Amino acid sequence: MEDFFLKCRTIEQPPKFGHRHNHRECFPWSSVTSDSSCRAWPGIDDMHMHAGAGMMEFADSERESLLRLLTWRRDVRHFETREVPPVVVQQLRLAMDLAPSVGNSRPWRIFQVESQARRLAVHDIFRQANAAAMQDQVPEKRQQYQQLKLEGIETAPLQLAVFTDTDPTAGYGLGRHSMAGTLEQSTAMAVQNLNLVARAQGLGVGMVSVLNAAGMERLFEVPQTWRFSLYLCIGWPQFTDDLPLLHRNGWQENQTVAWESC
Ligand SMILES: Cc1cc2nc3c(=O)[nH]c(=O)nc-3n(C[C@H](O)[C@H](O)[C@H](O)COP(=O)(O)O)c2cc1C
Repeated sequence: MEDFFLKCRTIEQPPKFGHRHNHRECFPWSSVTSDSSCRAWPGIDDMHMHAGAGMMEFADSERESLLRLLTWRRDVRHFETREVPPVVVQQLRLAMDLAPSVGNSRPWRIFQVESQARRLAVHDIFRQANAAAMQDQVPEKRQQYQQLKLEGIETAPLQLAVFTDTDPTAGYGLGRHSMAGTLEQSTAMAVQNLNLVARAQGLGVGMVSVLNAAGMERLFEVPQTWRFSLYLCIGWPQFTDDLPLLHRNGWQENQTVAWESC
């Protein structure tokens, strides 16, 4: 484990993801080699991936690319305002569709928030939640907390409000009968898929949970069974880093989590 982290830290240059013309480099997990016959990321009119059953194998270089992707997937809060092309937005949607979900229920429900008024309302909910969170910090941490940047709502060109349907018909309840939380776990996995594909495109994602869940559910007027999960700010990052911002600015160092044998 330690070797892996050390190895990752020695990578000096960010990966060259975002080269749209090199399929293998952009989508190292795809078995497709030619850009023109790309089936893994088809045209936007044909968003279903059916590569067929069979053995899937990956080369060392692809494994290396995956590690680089994981290493450079960091939460981003500083965005350029340049738009995210619709074709890339569709790839992010497909990334979520490829996620595992309990009972294959796909319980994530997404709003692409484009209205400036709605964004301002979300930012308002953030400001209130953030003020309350700061008051709950121990006094010696409050000043440092105040200086943290915990969202990019004012600048991120693409914003998604992510909810979870806690009573979806799909899946017929399989896998969640005794563990209701698996629906929200499924949504989290879909968000992580989006995180990784966004990074592979050169985009950054900032996850925002400093929000009042009930307030978000009211603002978006969601059905009663939907719970607010996360707000995503997405866009081209002003800078990239392979260390978490909270580590970089001294709030919380990265730590590895040991596995216990039993
Ligand atoms: C469920 C969840 C909620 C998060 N909420 C916030 C948030 O409200 N504001 C923020 O700045 N970062 C948020 N983050 C990002 C974490 O701070 C970040 O993942 C952590 O510091 C590690 O950094 P990294 O993602 O760059 O590795 C959230 C992350 C997760 C998984």
